Amino acid sequence: MTSAKTVALIVAAGRGERTGGSVPKQFQTLGGRPVIAWSHAALASHPLIDDVIVIVAEEETARLPDGWKSVSGGATRLDSVRAGLDAAGDAARVLVHDAARPLLSRAVIDRLLAAIAIDDGAVPALPVADTLSRGDGTLVDRHDLYRIQTPQAFRTEVLRAAHAAWPAGRDATDDAQMVRALGGSIALVQGDPMLEKITYAEDFAVAEARIDWETRSASGLDVHRLEDGEELWLGGVLIPHTQGLSGHSDADVALHAITDALLGTIAAGDIGQHFPPSDPQWKGAASDQFLAHAATLVRDRGGQIGFIDLTLMCEAPKIGPHREAMRRRIAAILNIAEERVSVKATTTEKLGFTGRGEGIAAQAIATIRLPGWQA
Ligand code: CTP
Ligand code: MG
Repeated sequence: MTSAKTVALIVAAGRGERTGGSVPKQFQTLGGRPVIAWSHAALASHPLIDDVIVIVAEEETARLPDGWKSVSGGATRLDSVRAGLDAAGDAARVLVHDAARPLLSRAVIDRLLAAIAIDDGAVPALPVADTLSRGDGTLVDRHDLYRIQTPQAFRTEVLRAAHAAWPAGRDATDDAQMVRALGGSIALVQGDPMLEKITYAEDFAVAEARIDWETRSASGLDVHRLEDGEELWLGGVLIPHTQGLSGHSDADVALHAITDALLGTIAAGDIGQHFPPSDPQWKGAASDQFLAHAATLVRDRGGQIGFIDLTLMCEAPKIGPHREAMRRRIAAILNIAEERVSVKATTTEKLGFTGRGEGIAAQAIATIRLPGWQA
């Protein structure tokens, strides 16, 4: 019995010998995250895909982030795909994808899944545009030639049957050819130049240049009341002062404003939604964990934090002497360079609640970049 499930298999058990380097190419960094994280995010976030299983060499398992499903691969790509198929359970449909093709868009996945409603399998294909010549100078007719990419989508039972029937010891670098060998039908859907495989070291620069970064800025604002008998935490730094800020957590207005700004860049709601003040676990909590969480959410989307600009509004204490410590601390929490954090302060000329010393306000603007094409 098969379910209606769709499982994506990412083969990543190769050694990347043609690329070189101390780490296999799929674990090297592209645009701020490991190559394999790009396609994993695209597949895991697709609404029609239920599960993603990564096939890795046993000794590389420790490189995978917590929560990823994985199985051990084999000596050839074919063996690795087979290991993935064994782990795909009762899935009705499988997608087989090379970890070495990071820039996978939702549109390609949509086209493949639509095509296997009719055919046994579907592959992304790009027509060959260049003139093709043999070594002796004679030309090859290119009108019917395509470059075949991954992911390749199949009805699971058909791909399993193709693997079972494939002669032992014969290699195959492409799953569709195995299904065809058994008489299965394969649809060609429109491929994507972004999906080019990383094979040689120089392919990294090409892939990096292909990433279509979208810059986003968002603001955050917070206010807390100054009271006697409270500690004053600002920008993650404990500041000696006659009064401190009161609130459910440590009431660090600066970190709260930055947290909201970061959440804003990915339209992920606000700090109160993620850490409700009504929840006792956040009573007296250090606010650095709120900020770190927001940064994780941005990075999970493939985002990179570009710049943080913070303005504190208060009559006292003087912020200047603590500015560098705050920059250091904020940068450390966000895991970015200190040069990417600006801390400013202003009084409000004794006007309003900040002017009367009743509270401190903070405003932050976060600028990030996101891989926009992936949406
Ligand atoms: N692959 C695999 N198991 C293998 C060999 C390859 O899972 N035994 C995967 C690779 O990790 C890659 C994909 O198949 O995602 C395509 O293979 P290729 O580009 O050839 O990668 P490598 O084999 O790692 O590279 P090289 O051939 O240069 O060593
Ligand atoms: Mg190989």
